[in-house]
Formats: sequence, structure tokens, C-alpha cells
Amino acid sequence: MEDLKSLLKKLVEATGPSGHEENVRNIIEEELADFVDEIRVDNLGNLICTKKGAKDSPKAMILAHTDEIGMLVRYVEKEGFIRFSYLGGFFDQMVLGQRVLIHTEKGDIKGVIGSIPPHLLPDEERKKPVKRDKMFIDIGANSREQAEEWGIKIGAPITWLGYLDDLGNNMVTGKAFDDRAGCAIMVQTLKEVKAECTVIGVASVMEEVGLRGAQTSSFTVDPDFAIALDVSATGDHPGIEERQMPVKIGKGPGITIADGRRESLGGGLISHPKVLKLLTETAEENHIPYQLEIFEGGTTDATAAATTRGGIPSATINIPTRYIHSPIEVLSLEDLSNTFKLLKLSLENAHKYF
Ligand code: CO
Ligand code: ZN
Repeated sequence: MEDLKSLLKKLVEATGPSGHEENVRNIIEEELADFVDEIRVDNLGNLICTKKGAKDSPKAMILAHTDEIGMLVRYVEKEGFIRFSYLGGFFDQMVLGQRVLIHTEKGDIKGVIGSIPPHLLPDEERKKPVKRDKMFIDIGANSREQAEEWGIKIGAPITWLGYLDDLGNNMVTGKAFDDRAGCAIMVQTLKEVKAECTVIGVASVMEEVGLRGAQTSSFTVDPDFAIALDVSATGDHPGIEERQMPVKIGKGPGITIADGRRESLGGGLISHPKVLKLLTETAEENHIPYQLEIFEGGTTDATAAATTRGGIPSATINIPTRYIHSPIEVLSLEDLSNTFKLLKLSLENAHKYF
């Protein structure tokens, strides 16, 4: 578990919003260099790592996305305050009052996300959540010219300032568990797996803006089946009823039966029965706890794989995570290590299924 935790820390504290994943990619490349037979980066920025299996054995693809939700500098006010675009799905309430890093050619610049304090707001507005167009980033600059002198430019990427911290009962908190938790498991699996099948780990780019890296990499890799590693929301805290989201932290990896838009499960994944069988039977045989889940409200890289070429049999394993898409996501290290076990053993079992 220590290995996974230190990997997670390293990956979470690296920054990589969609389209700017190189820091994360470099860490994974360095971690895996001595453990796989071939590593390459495709035109979009996906890192494709191959660990060869027996001759003519099936090809398994593991997808974990390297990008985190982030922002882009959109406009600099003449007083030096910065307006921003969202890159990924943000919840305005999670944005206000946070610390951020703006990444420039001259280095990282710290900033805070401010808005009008409640004392100065009209009564009506004080009752409502603050929207993005009322927020700005304060980097301490006095003018647009000064901000530009420090390296701020239109399009400069922005990420939360966040680090890994411990909570009770083996839980940790931090930013970008979505999907650095998946990346950590993929790395550890490629290091330790001894499978008959060929295992291809893809550290994909631009998931948060529409599964773009998974789309191109599944086409090139052309595997016999694919498993995406990602995070999913839980229903184990105040405000959610169990019937709405029965997945809980600490009860094992979530195996997704289906996901997609809330009203229809459109635009998502219906997991392939053969991959589901491999995952659930491996979990049962090895007494690994798991949770079957239907996730209404989002999807993962597996969706792109499933509709590539003639259709790649695909499924998703989700690490139960609270407060997803915030700088204080929470997960259990026990779930992390059970997810790793499930993936590793499934890959070692896969030649019997494919
Ligand atoms: Co996400
Ligand atoms: Zn994700």
C-alpha cells in the first residue's frame, strides 16, 4: 500500500490540465521505463506502454487519464486581475476561495480566486452561489502590464494548488484523484503484472474535455479488450440517499455496469458482458470486495474505446471517491490497493476469456 500511496502523492502533486499533461506523462514514463518492453508518445500526447505477453496472446488495453480539470487564462483586466475559462466540468462553489497555480514560461505563479465579499453584496445576491463570471484570480499584480511581465498570457493553463494529506481510517485527500488514482494503479499494475496476454497501458490525454486521447489511442492500439480506470462519486455522506448512489468508500472498487447522462445513460458506456465476467469472476475467486454500479451523470475513457473500430469490448473499474472535481477529493487507500489487486489478477486471468 505504501508504494501506491507514494505514487499517488507524486502524481497528484504534479500538474496537468487537459492539453498540458506533460508533467504527469514524464513521471509515468520514468516510473515505467525499466518495466515495459516499449514506450511511445502519440501525436496527441498519449503515453502508450507495452508489456509483451506470450506469442499470439490477446491484447489488453488499460486506460487511465493524465489530465485533471483545469482552467485557462482568458482575459487580463487592466488592474491585473485574471478572468478564466473552465477546462472540464467545474462546480462554481468549489472554485471560489481556492488557491491556484498559473503555469507560464517564466515559472508557476500563485494566485487566489476572489469575488465580492458578502458584506458588499446586495441582499438578493448574497443568497445565491457566486457564478464564474463574478470571479477573478488575484496574483498580486498591479496592472495588466505587470501580470504580462511576470509571464501571464492568454491561454496559460491553471490548476488547483493542492497536495496529498491524510485523513482517518486510511483515507487521503487531495486534488486530481480523478484520475491520478487510476494512473497510480496502472503504473503499479504494469510493474507487477505477470500475464500471458500482452498488456498495453495508455496514460491518456484530454479525457475531461471529451475522451479525446482514448479515442485516438484505442484506434492505434486496437486491443482485444479494454479496461478504463477512473473514479466515481459515492453516496456515503450527508445529503445523498443510499438509493440514489449506493457506492461507498472502503467497500472495494466499483465495477461499472453502465454510465452516461443522468436522464438516459446516453453518451456513455454499457460494459461488455465478457469483460464484466472476467472482472467479477476474478474478484469472487480471490475474495476481493467490489461494488456493482450504475453511474448516472458521467462517463469514462472506456466509452471511446467501446465505439472504436469494430467495437472494442470494454468496461470501467472505478475507485470510489468523494467530492469529485474538487481540490479536496477523498478516497480510501484500501480501495486503491483492492483496485490494483483486481486489475492485476484480472489481467493474469484474461487469456482464459479472450
Ligand atoms: Co473527471
Ligand atoms: Zn476521470
